[in-house]
Amino acid sequence: MRRLTLAVCLLGYLVTVPQYASCLETAAPTGLGGEASLGDRHRFVVEDMLRFCQPEPGFWVDLGAGRGQVALPLIERTENPVIMLDPNEQAMAKGLEIARERDIAHRLFAVVGVAEAMPFPDNSVDLLVSRGSIFFWDDPVQGLREVHRVLRPGAHAYIGGGAGSRFPREATERLVQMRRERLEGPEAERWQRFVELRCPEQMEAWAAAAELPEYTVLGKGAITIDPEMGQGVWLLLKKPSNP
Ligand SMILES: C[S@@+](CC[C@H](N)C(=O)[O-])C[C@H]1O[C@@H](n2cnc3c(N)ncnc32)[C@H](O)[C@@H]1O
Repeated sequence: MRRLTLAVCLLGYLVTVPQYASCLETAAPTGLGGEASLGDRHRFVVEDMLRFCQPEPGFWVDLGAGRGQVALPLIERTENPVIMLDPNEQAMAKGLEIARERDIAHRLFAVVGVAEAMPFPDNSVDLLVSRGSIFFWDDPVQGLREVHRVLRPGAHAYIGGGAGSRFPREATERLVQMRRERLEGPEAERWQRFVELRCPEQMEAWAAAAELPEYTVLGKGAITIDPEMGQGVWLLLKKPSNP
């Protein structure tokens, strides 16, 4: 299995990464790291992913997985294996290292690649999740088309960014307040762009341009709290069972 994973990684890298990897971690304003002091948001996001997607066990993908911030709690919560896909191999190597420390390395796999050209067969993925990544893709519309292609009919994808609907309200309010203050600070322009990318209108525009047949945009964005969804914006999409 390990050899097969390595082979898939290498193939994915050679075929797809060079044309799309220019966007690595660009455009993120500084100051995001300080938000970690508010507490870990990923396990709350995982709960929303499971609640909205109701996935079948099987082939699950964390797209733009980074260090497995979503993949790791998703495995711990469900015991289903997860494949990380990301152009940043060092980040995923760190995720694999953490998985070994937590004794779940046999359930976490890494594939080097990009959303815009996923090295997966059509109609094969039972759940695709992606947090904090679409905003960095070179071509989000092509990425969403790819998500739709790889999903199994009847399966869901949950893509976007945010803290999770059950992230404690006080911490959510503090997060939003910190970001609003940054819109007035020295990096105002970059924060403005950050907020513009993470708004429901932008998500709606990408989904419509990708001609997704069945989707819902959830949440009100990066600096607005939705009573149901908390802070953030998400695209919930379903591949119709009989396309
Ligand atoms: C802010 S990190 C998010 C990491 C993690 N998912 C989380 O929730 O904390 C964004 C990730 O998107 C990845 N990324 C950038 N461009 C990408 C692309 N075209 N396709 C897939 N992932 C991409 C980056 O390498 C990075 O690991």
